[in-house]
Amino acid sequence: MAAVGPVVAREDAFRKLFRFYRRREGADLTGVIDFSTPVVTSQLSDQVSDQDAYRAGLQPVKQWGAYGLKGYPGEVHLCRWSPSKINGAVSTQVSKGSRKQEPKTLLEKLRWVTLGYHYNWDSKKYSADHHTPFPGDLAFLSGQVASACGFQSFQAEAGILNYYHFDSSLGIHVDESELDHSQPLISFSFGQSSIFLLGGLKQDEAPTAMFIHSGDIMVMSGFSRLLYHAIPRVLPNPEGRALPSCLEQTFPTDLPDGSVVDPCSEEDWQACTKYLHTSRINMTIRQVLAVGQSFPAESTMDKGPDTTSSSSYHQNDSKIKQHKPHINS
Ligand code: OGA
Ligand code: MN
Repeated sequence: MAAVGPVVAREDAFRKLFRFYRRREGADLTGVIDFSTPVVTSQLSDQVSDQDAYRAGLQPVKQWGAYGLKGYPGEVHLCRWSPSKINGAVSTQVSKGSRKQEPKTLLEKLRWVTLGYHYNWDSKKYSADHHTPFPGDLAFLSGQVASACGFQSFQAEAGILNYYHFDSSLGIHVDESELDHSQPLISFSFGQSSIFLLGGLKQDEAPTAMFIHSGDIMVMSGFSRLLYHAIPRVLPNPEGRALPSCLEQTFPTDLPDGSVVDPCSEEDWQACTKYLHTSRINMTIRQVLAVGQSFPAESTMDKGPDTTSSSSYHQNDSKIKQHKPHINS
């Protein structure tokens, strides 16, 4: 029987680990899973032809490393999918996104960009009237990745790009604003590394910690699509150089016929790689609506307080202070 006594505010297991890994000095990282030493190999589908992979700037699927985690069906971690370099800047529609404090340049201020159906951080919704065409190259790339993971009908409709520095983090949240959860989240990461915490269906379940390195793709689908997750920490890439070696090349000029990748000037490439010396970029691509679905008409009824979730991604929290979506020390 539970002891009767004063109710003591208890820090849940997820927050505890978040705080543990958030510590910049001295946190023991030996328990963090590194997919460069494989865990459980995942099967990929053979639906993506080498030609389509090539057009998207990808290695043939059979050369990708695909790993899963015990206890997390639907979570797939992909490595070695790119032929040694990332392919080009994605054209973006910049919505707002900056911190209130005073960094010096616009680039330093940038915290996020939204694409396609632009996510509204206040209402936590997407809507039909806040939309710009989703970039075709990124849609094609995401489609090939989804297809390799068994989601042939995935449509890239929204993207949130997060820009991190060594003092940034991303609060505990679940991505549930998309109306169709049967399609995966596809998350690409470039630049410096991070620790990713993958928890459970409830916010307080203890998460599993793993590294995400430059060039990794994480797919969250099925059971894992609605799990709580967070980035407590960004840390230097493990090679110990300013840039992970996969980014140290010049941009390819020998793009194949039918490539969806646009050429990128040497100057732009230099600017991107310089930025990534001290930054991490994550693009999480989403399908928002099921085929044939449309956004519900705005209800005038107030839903009332949201008790089901999460969204510490978007809320201020007295214990873990956040700027949305990042926490900064
Ligand atoms: C997100 C997200 C994770 C990351 O944008 O919803 O969870 O690796 N990003 O930055
Ligand atoms: Mn997320």
